[in-house]
Amino acid sequence: MLLTKGAEAHLYRETWYSKEIIRKQRVKKDYRAPELDMTLRVTRTVREANLLRNAKRAGVPTPTVYEIDKQEKTLIIEFIDGRRLKEVLDTLNPERRRVVARQIGILIGRLHKSNLIHGDLTTSNMILTKTGKIYFIDFGLGYNSSSIEDKAVDLHLMKRALESTHYKYVDEVFREILEGYKEETGSVLAEEVYGRMESIRKRGRYLRMS
Ligand SMILES: Nc1ncnc2c1ncn2[C@@H]1O[C@H](COP(=O)(O)OP(=O)(O)O)[C@@H](O)[C@H]1O
Ligand SMILES: [Mg+2]
Repeated sequence: MLLTKGAEAHLYRETWYSKEIIRKQRVKKDYRAPELDMTLRVTRTVREANLLRNAKRAGVPTPTVYEIDKQEKTLIIEFIDGRRLKEVLDTLNPERRRVVARQIGILIGRLHKSNLIHGDLTTSNMILTKTGKIYFIDFGLGYNSSSIEDKAVDLHLMKRALESTHYKYVDEVFREILEGYKEETGSVLAEEVYGRMESIRKRGRYLRMS
């Protein structure tokens, strides 16, 4: 069953050897030269699989990768039964929202401690299960980096996403995310990243004014 057609990939929900899975197939983009298009789709497919696995090893819940099909530019990954945080975050009671936000911060901290950058931290890319576990998905734009700048940009984009999708709660949610992040990474890395976020924010404002 076709689940969604994203910018890059088609996602199908299927049963695969009696497992509930998601098939994520990166589709051809006609605006790209065929050679480049092929390379990009293969690279991103493989990269996403590696990041999903490395994130899981770092202690961040992610769907298990069952198969990588380079020919088809397709990943077969575990189906996570839950709801996207995008749809539920605003409906939670304040205490639950705080707990969830703090957990998001902890998970981002875990990624960054392992030098994993998600690249697209939005609440569309997080799934909350019935048991309250949060899964991170969609690592197609992720990469490895130990740079403070890259970590700060990752968090900055999270904030921008909250501003556009959860504007009512952005302040309290982001505050908790930073608390959770600091709890996980320790204050040295956290303070460095916060400092850099501040200069990114100023740069952004400057860019918008000019
Ligand atoms: N493993 C999964 N389990 C359940 N739903 C998923 C899973 N992976 C993706 N989805 C659903 O499909 C949507 C698009 O998947 P995503 O990997 O974010 O692709 P895109 O690059 O198109 O954003 C997600 O927002 C989510 O609703
Ligand atoms: Mg996505």
